[in-house]
Formats: sequence, C-alpha cells, structure tokens
Amino acid sequence: MPESLSPKEVHQIKEELLSAVKALKGQVVNHESFSVGIKWEKTQPAGDKMKVVSGNKKEEQMKKFHLQMKDCKKCSLAKTRKNLVFGQGNPEAKIVFVGEAPGADEDEQGLPFVGRAGQLLTDIIVKGMKLSRQDVYICNILKCRPPGNRNPLPEEICECEPFLKKQLQIIAPRVICALGKFAAQTLLKTQTPITALRGRFHDYEGIKLMPTYHPAYLLRNPSAKKPVWDDVQKIIKEIGLD
Ligand code: URA
Repeated sequence: MPESLSPKEVHQIKEELLSAVKALKGQVVNHESFSVGIKWEKTQPAGDKMKVVSGNKKEEQMKKFHLQMKDCKKCSLAKTRKNLVFGQGNPEAKIVFVGEAPGADEDEQGLPFVGRAGQLLTDIIVKGMKLSRQDVYICNILKCRPPGNRNPLPEEICECEPFLKKQLQIIAPRVICALGKFAAQTLLKTQTPITALRGRFHDYEGIKLMPTYHPAYLLRNPSAKKPVWDDVQKIIKEIGLD
C-alpha cells in the first residue's frame, strides 16, 4: 500500500468499496429470498401446458438454473452489466411480476425493482395485495441492464426470453402480471398497445396473464394508478386473496 494516496485515488477506492458492498448485499438478499416467505400450497393448479414441478423441488430447480446461467454472455449486455439480475422471490409463488429490464439500481445490486419504480411495485405488493416481496416472484424480460436504460433490442429479447420462460416453467404460477408494454408484448407475442391489452386476463401457455402499466409509467403519470389498482384487484380476486 503506498504511504499517501491522492484524493482521486481515495475517491476511486471508496467508489469501488461501495460498489462491492452493494453487490454483496444484493447477493445475500437474493440468496435469502429463495427460502424466506409464505409456503404456498404445494399442489398448484398450474397452466395446462406448463410442466408442473412439485413444491420443494422448485427452490432447488431455481437455484440450479441460476447457477447455470449466471455468467451468460449470449448478448453484448454482458460486457456492460455490473450484475446479472436473475430474479427474486418465492419460486412457489402464485404470482409472478415481469418487468422490462434492470435499471442502474438493479444493475448495482443484482436485484429486480429496487429503485424508484421498484418502491412503487413494492407498495402495490405490500399495501395493495397485503403480501411481501418474498411471497411473490419478481423478474424481467432482460436479465441485464441496457446501457443508459435504452429500450431492449429485439435480438436481446430473443436471447434472454428463454431464461424467463424456464423460470415461469419452474414456478408455474397462477397469474403472471406483465408490467408495461415490453413485458406484455413480448410474452403475448403481439404489437397491440398496452392500453388495449391491460385490464383483462390473457393466456400465456395456459397461465392467466394480466398486463398493466409499468410502475415507472405511474411515476410519470400518477393518474394511471387507478387503472393499475383495478387490474391488481382482478389478480387478487383470481388468486383468492380477497
Ligand atoms: N424496471 C424494470 O422493468 N425492471 C426493473 O427491475 C427495474 C425497473
């Protein structure tokens, strides 16, 4: 260690340490989130076309799958990401929230929806559904952050979507909530605008899928909270949480 460091070097070391601590924190929460939370009933009425994986096997399968894909280099986002954001929550969840792609905070921590939009999603889950983030499963169409938060490219979606598909096969939830245009259009293989898709259940491989507005959109357009709440109430009713 040199005896004296320049202010610039000290700043750089501080930044590196901060980033390492945040990443480590993310890994710990991510690890814990596999095992914490409500134990949903073990026999879930999964979608007819989905392979049903029995209760406690889901956690093992998800961990195994995470290990298999965590160093993915299928697209160029691998070069710019800090952390791959696999997903977080209960592999036995009845509901899965699917967003678009990690942003800066998610990339930093390796966890989905932990920034401002994430806080809003957490409010929907906790205050609206009376659940915790560990009771549901949260993930994205893309596992890595597009630089500058640009929109996902078709080739990135094409490479990454099979990972999401596998996660959904393992979880076999009762309901998928697609957050925003990219999630809804990608999963439903349509170009129909989110305004026309939201508000009713669609079919995703035998699973009910409710498209709704993305929480980031709600931050810019608070009046859209009402339709989202309507959509969430339909989900609550469908899963029998009411
Ligand atoms: N927006 C998303 O779509 N996903 C995240 O994880 C965070 C913000």
